[in-house]
Amino acid sequence: MAIEIRPREDQPVVTTRPTTEPASARVPTRAPEQAAAARTTKIEARDLNLYYGSFRAVRDVTMDIPANEITAIIGPSGCGKSTFLRSLNRLHELAHGARMEGRLLIDGVDIYERSVDAVDLRRLVGMVFQRPNPFPTMSIYGNVASGLRLGGGPKPADLDEIVERCLTRAALWDEVKDHLGAPGTSLSGGQQQRLCIARALAVDPEVILMDEPASSLDPIATLRIEELMLELRGSYTIVIVTHNMQQASRVSDQTAFFSMGEDRAGYLVEMGQTTTIFTNPREQLTEDYISGRFG
Ligand SMILES: Nc1ncnc2c1ncn2[C@@H]1O[C@H](COP(=O)(O)OP(=O)(O)O)[C@@H](O)[C@H]1O
Ligand SMILES: [Mg+2]
Repeated sequence: MAIEIRPREDQPVVTTRPTTEPASARVPTRAPEQAAAARTTKIEARDLNLYYGSFRAVRDVTMDIPANEITAIIGPSGCGKSTFLRSLNRLHELAHGARMEGRLLIDGVDIYERSVDAVDLRRLVGMVFQRPNPFPTMSIYGNVASGLRLGGGPKPADLDEIVERCLTRAALWDEVKDHLGAPGTSLSGGQQQRLCIARALAVDPEVILMDEPASSLDPIATLRIEELMLELRGSYTIVIVTHNMQQASRVSDQTAFFSMGEDRAGYLVEMGQTTTIFTNPREQLTEDYISGRFG
């Protein structure tokens, strides 16, 4: 790993792309010995505080997210789940007045370190949003190919293959292979969401963040997204925010429960194996939430 890790107290949140280093030096990569180990930590949050101006939306989160498993984040509305998720690929810093304290490491590399380029990071850590957002002017094919061609480089010779592979991986190929030139927005909501997942896969990410990816979908489309997540499990580290507790218990390996303090800051109440969180949580607050007594 070429990236030197330093504390970042005196560094600006928004960093600019350094011109002296090759792109490869700026992207945290997975060490082979790490990938081989049975269970490794992919993401480490340490004393993470996230602010919008003077308002602290997330307080003191310390969390380990294991590699190649599915981690669900649940909790009442407004407790900072989306804010926390967006900090994992540095989207948080784009919000007005946004600020963070603490550290976020991926494969041991501090992603807020000056030498880590945010654009490169967002390829490594892809994101799927609540509302499917295919690029409106682009075809189905173009949507998947877009990430690969963003750099303005030449069209890869195997682009057709990559597009097919990603659409297959996203369980959409059979439904769209005969009209790849149709607008992405002509698909149903569930298909659009799978298209967005295919688009995220095209740039070969290691982590996929999903913020309530099925909340705008009907139950059948929701089930397809859940099946897809389970197929991607093992190849990608997936972090999903969901307000649907059945969904969390169906798809995730671990569950993190967030709640909100008197100061309205969200914080991590507890995290553990999903079965434990749902059957035998440590905290009364978790018990109350999962049994529907609040939230
Ligand atoms: N861009 C923003 N600017 C200011 N406050 C925000 C912004 N986004 C979210 N918030 C506030 O931060 C808190 C956490 O929001 P959010 O992360 O969206 O919660 P959740 O996803 O758990 O519902 C809320 O009080 C919300 O109003
Ligand atoms: Mg949210």
